[in-house]
Amino acid sequence: MNPTAGSNGPPQRRPDGSLRHLLTLESLSRTELEQLLERAQGFVRPVGERPARSAALAGYTVANLFTEPSTRTRVSFELAAKRLGAQVVNLELQLSSRLKGESMLDTVYTLQAMQVDAFVIRDAEAGVPQAVAANVAPHVSVLSAGEAHVSHPTQGLLDALTIRQRKGRFEGLSMAIIGDIRHSRVARSAWHALRTLGVRDLRIAGPAALMPDATEFAGCSRHTDLTSALAGTDVVMMLRIQKERMGEADLPDAAQYFAAWGLTRERLAAARTGAIVMHPQPMNRGIEIESEVADGPQSVIRDQVRNGVAVRMAVLETVLTPRGAAA
Ligand code: NCD
Repeated sequence: MNPTAGSNGPPQRRPDGSLRHLLTLESLSRTELEQLLERAQGFVRPVGERPARSAALAGYTVANLFTEPSTRTRVSFELAAKRLGAQVVNLELQLSSRLKGESMLDTVYTLQAMQVDAFVIRDAEAGVPQAVAANVAPHVSVLSAGEAHVSHPTQGLLDALTIRQRKGRFEGLSMAIIGDIRHSRVARSAWHALRTLGVRDLRIAGPAALMPDATEFAGCSRHTDLTSALAGTDVVMMLRIQKERMGEADLPDAAQYFAAWGLTRERLAAARTGAIVMHPQPMNRGIEIESEVADGPQSVIRDQVRNGVAVRMAVLETVLTPRGAAA
């Protein structure tokens, strides 16, 4: 049982308990996570087949408001909305209204007046998706596409879906998350999702300066070297050094970092045979991971990207049509 199931209440849920926004995975129960993964799996098609489509969101409008760079997340939210029949508008606010001093909320109110139904928000400042969610009209939903270092809920879901597809279960798995944990919203959302889904052996490892405070990542074991972190694991998640979230002085030297923490084929041998290698991208090849591993047989990095569209379709459909039938 998940002790936090359903305990968070608003602002993420409607009074009837259904999911209205997706700002964090923290209050989602194991059943809710599994339902989202099941719904997402229904949208996954084999490579080479036409993508899944439906008209579930015909007549809806989704706005992507991104103030931090994004390729995969932005494009996959756009494709997800379009494949469900919605209209999409994309705003890169660092290029437009923010420069002019218009606040995110003013932009949201403007778009809401144009009958936008859902806002997908990425921002480098913590709390922005929540602030928007607290101020939109009751029929409008807000989805976080990455909140500072704090959370990246759809990434957590796509990572869980990728693991489920490859391993068929969560219970009994060992997983290591390696690298710049301190600044990683990807690691935080993966941790929330996977411990709720039943992964008990979760390990985090990275250079001391890039490890999170001791109060964070409860239940994870902490490792100070790559080999011990990898030993016997089924799932290895490598992370990018989040240069944009640290000062020049804190930046590790690339060659030293690769020597200590870079995932090579030889080092991956410490993990269990058939272990999968994940990376949220963008990748620094030759720093946290070598190309031979990133493009090798154990890599599921492209599955993660493909699953990102399916997960975002499932989330958009769930929040916008709460009683709608799964496609
Ligand atoms: C990540 C992000 O932006 O948090 N990328 C992504 O969404 N796939 C990870 C990163 O930037 O390192």
